[in-house]
Amino acid sequence: MNRVFVTQPIPEPGVSMLKRARFQVSVYPKDEIIPRQALLKGVKGVQAILCMLTNRIDDTVLRTAGKNLKIVANMAVGLDNVDLTACKKRKVIVTNTPGVLTDAVAEHTLVLMMTIARRIAEADRFTRLGKYNGWGPNLLLGSEIKGKTLGIVGLGRIGFGVAERAVRGMGMKVIYNDIKPNFDFEKQFGGQFRKLDQLLREADFVSLHLPLLPATRHLISARQFAIMKKTAYLINTSRGPIVDEKALVVALKNKKIAGAAIDVFEFEPELAPGLANLENVILTPHIASATIEARGAMARLAAENIIAVFEGRSPPSAVK
Ligand code: DGY
Repeated sequence: MNRVFVTQPIPEPGVSMLKRARFQVSVYPKDEIIPRQALLKGVKGVQAILCMLTNRIDDTVLRTAGKNLKIVANMAVGLDNVDLTACKKRKVIVTNTPGVLTDAVAEHTLVLMMTIARRIAEADRFTRLGKYNGWGPNLLLGSEIKGKTLGIVGLGRIGFGVAERAVRGMGMKVIYNDIKPNFDFEKQFGGQFRKLDQLLREADFVSLHLPLLPATRHLISARQFAIMKKTAYLINTSRGPIVDEKALVVALKNKKIAGAAIDVFEFEPELAPGLANLENVILTPHIASATIEARGAMARLAAENIIAVFEGRSPPSAVK
């Protein structure tokens, strides 16, 4: 019987699919990030690892798993936690879960944009604290979204989904930056390509949708905040280290930009000192894909990838 180690309890039907396909499945029982030692113990001798984005899957893990390991199925679209070179060297297949979380993440991005622009979290705190003494013409004024320019950095599936909703649903203009222009997108949504600096200068909202790679680490830092509009908002639902979080705190404190709404952190789950004390920031704990629909589909796709490999089929989302 082939053995699978699942590093954290996952939504159904992930585990039951694997059991039905006659795998011997062991799941780390606590709903927490598995400690390194428990990860190394759990993977010993298994044929497949179903892991989370919070698990560092490096050569030590692969070596500990041993020569029977065939697949690392990451239950995430981002792969920055997996050493792809080491996997390739050891001929271990790597899969991720693209496509199934696009709507959830795009929706969360829009929620963050609206929440920061209309100061919803601040207004909620204000009201709960009993500070509301009656309607006021200057009370908690925010920014409107219709007609504003959204700068999408990274026009993959999720960036595209955000742009679609922003243009069709909210009457925004879209500019975007990616490796190359996407003429289909431009035709469909009237979006225009910009070099990154130009996008940062023009956009009222900047939304990041990039993978974390050496080239994207700290892509947004002090220099970039300095060229953004003072009225602009930064939204990040991609990966924390793409933004220099210390520089973000300084930019928010010094009102270099109007605000930020971020779901991911440079050293998560730690926050940069001072970040949580600021009013002009919305913080959510990496939950952009946290819908019942998306997480169920992610678990299902991760399981399908494993099953396919052992049935001699190509997994639906193998990483090249
Ligand atoms: C991913 O899949 O990479 C997301 O960050 C999960 O929310």
